[in-house]
Parts: sequence; structure tokens; C-alpha cells
Amino acid sequence: MASVRVYAADEAAMIAWGQRLARVVSSPAVVYLRGDLGAGKTTLSRAWIRALGHEGAVKSPTYTLVEPYEFGESGQGGFSLYHFDLYRLGDPEELEAIGLRDYLSESAICLFEWPERGEGILPEADWEIVIEPQDVGRGLSIYTQDDVALSHL
Ligand SMILES: Nc1ncnc2c1ncn2[C@@H]1O[C@H](COP(=O)(O)OP(=O)(O)O)[C@@H](O)[C@H]1O
Ligand SMILES: [Mg+2]
Repeated sequence: MASVRVYAADEAAMIAWGQRLARVVSSPAVVYLRGDLGAGKTTLSRAWIRALGHEGAVKSPTYTLVEPYEFGESGQGGFSLYHFDLYRLGDPEELEAIGLRDYLSESAICLFEWPERGEGILPEADWEIVIEPQDVGRGLSIYTQDDVALSHL
């Protein structure tokens, strides 16, 4: 497992990291976003989704559990991004009820805020991003087995 630790001094720097992640993470990918409430998981996700070309609003999926985004034509290099927020999940089993398997396709990137709430049901992460308060901003620890992609971050 390779990792890097980077520092985002403010929200603009966080957005820049979301844009960089959008460039290097390709489908299929399961991404865990860890960090307390207000750490910046949704800020990072929103920047990532916008960088992929989504022009509308990016709502926090806190109440809907998952928000879907489609990019390009399916079967022609197109892919989906599913943004999950498991904070309000009562039980990991509920993920099966909403059809988690169907979201985990070859052509999907799945971002999971609060992955610990889905423990035992979620697949292993291809990328794990841990966000913590550091000085006036946030520290991001980024882990992946994909050394090549990480070196292009
Ligand atoms: N690197 C940063 N430094 C300082 N503040 C940040 C940084 N990144 C995001 N923020 C701010 O912290 C808050 C994070 O909220 P949000 O992204 O909703 O967190 P989470 O989804 O982890 O609960 C926002 O108010 C955002 O403006
Ligand atoms: Mg959030």
C-alpha cells in the first residue's frame, strides 16, 4: 500500500485536491472518505464531481444515502460516479436493501463518506482518504495500491 500525506490550507486547496483526484482515479474504484463531521469529505467530493464535468448542483447525500452522476455515453468510455454518505445508515445490511451490488459496476467510481457505517458489507477500498484538522486547514492522507496513479496525483 502506497500513501502520501498532503496539506490543504483552505477550502480552495481542498477543491484543488478534489480536482487532482478526479484526474487520476479511474473506474472501477471504491473510495473511502474518512474524517469527522466538517472535515471536508463533501467539499472534496463536490470538487471531484465538478472536475469530471458535472455542471449542476452537488447535493450532500446525507438524506438520500446516494446521489448518482453519469459522465459520457455508456459503453463508449462513459462511467458513473455514485456519491454515498452512510452517516444516517442504521445498519450495514440496509446497503444490500438499496442494491449496493448494482452500484459496484466495472464502469463506476463509488465515493463513500462514513465507510465505517457500512463495515462488513462494503467492498475493500481501492483508495482511502483520511482528512484531519491540521493547523488552520486539513491534512489529507491518501492510500492506494495503485502506485502509478498515486505518482500522477
Ligand atoms: N482545507 C480546508 N481548510 C479549512 N476549511 C476547510 C477545508 N476544506 C473544507 N473546509 C471547510 O470545512 C467545512 C467542511 O464541510 P464538509 O465538506 O461538509 O465536511 P464533511 O462532509 O466532512 O462533514 C466547510 O465549511 C468547508 O468550507
Ligand atoms: Mg459530508
